Amino acid sequence: MKKIGILTSGGDAPGMNAAIRAVTRTALKHGMTVMGIRRGFNGLINGDMVELGIRSVSDIIQRGGTILYTARCNEFRFEEGLQKAKATCIKEGIEGLIVLGGDGSFRGAADLSARGIPCVAIPCTIDNDISMTEYTIGYDTAMNTAMLLIDKLRDTTQSHDRCSVVEVMGRHAGHIAVNTGIATGATHILTEEVPYSVDDVIERIQNTQTTGKHHFIIVVSEGIGNSQDIAKKIEQATGVETRATILGHVQRGGSPTVRDRVVASQLGHCAVELLNQGYSNRVIGTKHGNIIDYDIQEALSMKKSFENDLYRIAMDISF
Ligand code: F6P
Repeated sequence: MKKIGILTSGGDAPGMNAAIRAVTRTALKHGMTVMGIRRGFNGLINGDMVELGIRSVSDIIQRGGTILYTARCNEFRFEEGLQKAKATCIKEGIEGLIVLGGDGSFRGAADLSARGIPCVAIPCTIDNDISMTEYTIGYDTAMNTAMLLIDKLRDTTQSHDRCSVVEVMGRHAGHIAVNTGIATGATHILTEEVPYSVDDVIERIQNTQTTGKHHFIIVVSEGIGNSQDIAKKIEQATGVETRATILGHVQRGGSPTVRDRVVASQLGHCAVELLNQGYSNRVIGTKHGNIIDYDIQEALSMKKSFENDLYRIAMDISF
């Protein structure tokens, strides 16, 4: 394989740049030309790309975001968009493509693979909601960011004898919530995976009050619903002044942690090796610390389990 493309798609995730670096440097070692495609699949449709040399990816391993920009691309859901992307690849001599993103981006990679452009996907999302892999690039950094912010919130929550309802990201997955909840000593954690009621939260706060506790952190996964409403209900029932804080997109930014940089480097390296060996329609991930790869359709049909044990531990020790 002489020329490959790389793009970042969907929500950005810290560590994408480290993966772009690893892909570029590995491909250059194999004597390939690397094209950095801008703004996800849109760049493939519009032919918006730049050649990446050895120095184009210097000084980016520590940077959050993505130097290639990212976007969600509606046009890529339709045959016309796919054909335009394929035509761009043929015109530019791009023989293989590496796609960094979440499961929406994997569908695009699978569709393009089926039309004759070999693709390998790398899971990048702060949500860690990709079933075929234990870990997605960006997750560790996002959790650490959320943890540091909740620590800061605890200072003011404690000083005012308040309750803070903190909403963390994760789309419909509660992995960020349960891990940051346990790491910040949250009194309660609400996620979509575990049946809940606000009354349980209220009861837990009231029980904890009897042991002399005056401030409370409640971590809520974003899929749960309106944190303001939850805060109001808690305040009305307990009399504890309650504020809702939505951490939001700040969780997607910042310099990647060691784990994100290392995994991004490993998966980026492996993606190029797979393309070079003639594989297509694969997605790479980790299992028990080893790198694994699956057919994309097979990967998309898998179901991710939730950390129920961790959740139980959090409930056992935080009161
Ligand atoms: O998938 C990453 C994520 O940050 C989710 O946690 C969140 O639900 C979503 O993206 C937000 O998307 P957008 O950036 O389009 O608002």
